[in-house]
Amino acid sequence: MPLARLSLTTAGESHGPKLTGILTGLPSGLRVDPAAVNRDLARRQHGYGRGGRMKIERDEALFTGGLRGGETLGGPLSFEIANRDHGVWERVMGPVEIEAEAAAKRRLSSPRPGHADLAGGLKYGRRDLRDILERASARETASRVAAGAVCRALLLEFGVEIRSGVLSLGDVVISEPPQGFTFAELLRVDEGSLFRAIDLSAEERMKAAVDAATKSGNTLGGTILVGARGVPAGLGSHVSWTAKLDGRIGQAMLSIPSVKAVSLGDGVANAFRSGSLAHDPIEYVAGKGYRRASNRAGGLEGGITNGEDVLVTVYQKPISTLRDGLPSVDIDTREPRRAAYERSDTTAVPAGGVIAEAMLALVLADALLEKTGGDSMPEVKRNLDGFLAEQRRF
Ligand SMILES: Cc1cc2nc3c(=O)[nH]c(=O)nc-3n(C[C@H](O)[C@H](O)[C@H](O)COP(=O)(O)O)c2cc1C
Repeated sequence: MPLARLSLTTAGESHGPKLTGILTGLPSGLRVDPAAVNRDLARRQHGYGRGGRMKIERDEALFTGGLRGGETLGGPLSFEIANRDHGVWERVMGPVEIEAEAAAKRRLSSPRPGHADLAGGLKYGRRDLRDILERASARETASRVAAGAVCRALLLEFGVEIRSGVLSLGDVVISEPPQGFTFAELLRVDEGSLFRAIDLSAEERMKAAVDAATKSGNTLGGTILVGARGVPAGLGSHVSWTAKLDGRIGQAMLSIPSVKAVSLGDGVANAFRSGSLAHDPIEYVAGKGYRRASNRAGGLEGGITNGEDVLVTVYQKPISTLRDGLPSVDIDTREPRRAAYERSDTTAVPAGGVIAEAMLALVLADALLEKTGGDSMPEVKRNLDGFLAEQRRF
């Protein structure tokens, strides 16, 4: 589903020379601080349970277009992120030339269940399944995090803040199904902790679970709460199914590699409640406007933001690359053969939260600009202020 006003194109292979991103549709005059973008890239690499690669990569975004003196010009914003281990992969992954012998050694012919390897090979007719792995790899999400950081900067200008926290990892569960959470819980997440868990006291058990999984060659998934506060009412629309913001958020979240389920607010818990306990009573507070006594809807009704915090839970499956390889088939012999193993994470749940924040920032920035229009930041601000003044009179 395309974005309404913004667009994000990413390019690059996991072990190619670099990742490239192009974000279009931003207004002029937005200040972009590369240090803030790099901070989010570092947050994506942080977290217990990542493989050796995260120690090699220290991602930095290099802006190459659309920015002058740290301010957007209104044109496409382009950036690059180097793959620091490309040097050792150059003979295998060179964009123009590769060495046949080196490439043959790295050829992937036993597809990993749970990965794009086999389905992508069948679709694109590539018998070296590395051609699929390299692009399907979650390395691509570094570009999304960089673009998301730019969108986060835009949203912050209008008082919208985005955070996340881990709700469960493997069988260490803080809350399932998630219910009754608020943005305040996300503000308490310790960014420097191993897992960025919503309840710090669960982290020791999470560490033990990851250590045990690593030792036995297994992997773990988990759940993450991602939220936004300060989101004005009136983003998205009920008028057509493609405009509904809940659907747009769902699509963005499900596009994150390994995310297989998404819920909004108390969405899962609500399915098991009666109607009288599932919705959010409406109140009017003089001087403040319309408010809700609770936020079970997660800030969205009819595909439109209602002014409450937007709260989304994403569910990540366990990493599909297992040390001993899951049962698979060799595509040359068609005989049973364990799936290939390549250096891999035990869990990517802490990183998943940072990527989910980026995707929420992208979708909310898009919906805000869709509502306001405007080619420059002052124009966007003027239009938003006008809309908010109308709401106060409503
Ligand atoms: C931050 C992050 C890191 C990941 N790291 C790995 C990894 O090291 N090994 C692996 O097999 N899968 C990893 N994955 C998951 C795969 O990228 C994903 O399962 C695969 O591309 C198939 O896509 P699908 O799970 O969405 O169907 C990671 C996912 C994320 C979000």
